[in-house]
Amino acid sequence: MKISARATRMEPSATLAVVNKAKALKNAGKPVISFGAGEPDFDSPPAAASYAERAIQEGQTHYTQSSGIPELREAVASYYSDRFDLDYSNDQVIIGPGAKPLIYGSLASLVDPGDEVLVFSPAWVSYVEQVRLLDGRANVVDTTATGNIPLASRITEAITPRTAGMLINTPNNPTGAVYDEKTLREMAEIALEHDLWIIFDEIYERLVYENSKHHNIASLLPEVMDRTIQINGVSKAFAMTGWRIGYALAPRWLAPKIGAIQGHLTSNACSIAQWASLGALREAGEDTLRMRGEFSRRREIMMELLREMPLVSFDEPRGAFYVFVNIAPAIGGTSGGKVLENDGDFCEALLEREYVAAVPGTAFLAPGHIRLSYANSEAEIREGMTRFKRFLASIEAR
Ligand SMILES: Cc1ncc(COP(=O)(O)O)c(C=O)c1O
Repeated sequence: MKISARATRMEPSATLAVVNKAKALKNAGKPVISFGAGEPDFDSPPAAASYAERAIQEGQTHYTQSSGIPELREAVASYYSDRFDLDYSNDQVIIGPGAKPLIYGSLASLVDPGDEVLVFSPAWVSYVEQVRLLDGRANVVDTTATGNIPLASRITEAITPRTAGMLINTPNNPTGAVYDEKTLREMAEIALEHDLWIIFDEIYERLVYENSKHHNIASLLPEVMDRTIQINGVSKAFAMTGWRIGYALAPRWLAPKIGAIQGHLTSNACSIAQWASLGALREAGEDTLRMRGEFSRRREIMMELLREMPLVSFDEPRGAFYVFVNIAPAIGGTSGGKVLENDGDFCEALLEREYVAAVPGTAFLAPGHIRLSYANSEAEIREGMTRFKRFLASIEAR
């Protein structure tokens, strides 16, 4: 018996590995502070709970249409019309069990073996693994030298005859970068010129800070609408990660395929969670604003504390809830008699010595960095940063 080549090639999620190790230490009674989580720490909005309760009581507990209940598809289409001035009909909306499987369903509808997909690093872990699962090749374009924003000339250089599309994520996980209007226009123009599709993952679009503005690529250049799949969902905007509801909005020629793939894989997203998400979209706008206000405050605190620390630097994040910290000057140094060979060693030592969890940048195709999430209480951020500073001070430079 053998394991398939596909499964053998796949790397386990490094984010989950850190979270699991931190949880194990916590269960063993250690005072762990985790900056590893990729989810808001707030409760889901009351409207989500009340819609879900009503759905259960009213017996909305059966299979739904595989692409989702009409009420939610309509609410998502109206949201895109109100917020981005984009006109989607209900049958172009696919509701899925989280944004993650919808990205996979979109890729599975578009990627043939050997096709190349442009991914802009630092990048969310799952993009590359999903492309590889489909026997495609992720063509990674590094953005760290340009403030985590892609440069048009670098994108054009990376295109080959096998390039089929690009995966764009703004606001970005892990860097918090929010792509500006000019960059997105240029990316859209490149897609048109080279006949590429675009998967536009804007799951953090509600979480931008100060004077930053999120832009939707198809609102900027409507010509790309027919080659763009919008990815969004309730996980981050409404603190509803556990409900597992995401949405994709796709061109007419593609939406039925994504729906069909989902139909074979999962039948449909959980009926009760779909109703809960409808409650959130209809009634929880204020909750989202409140959460964003709180994230904004925590972001300021974390950045202020990080600026005082030795050996680290970062590009100011404008969105999402992460700070992506460059720790390269610490690599090669020694902590507690152990050489920190890479960002994985760094995170391991930080967890072992100070019980502070962070995710190594290698997991985001950016070695020499770590991702810190500020989806944590102010008290935990302050205590965790005190420990982090102590850890950095303890490192003997190479
Ligand atoms: C960039 C990005 N896209 C998509 C997702 C998936 O979200 P979900 O599957 O919870 O809807 C995440 C979650 O961490 C993410 O960071």
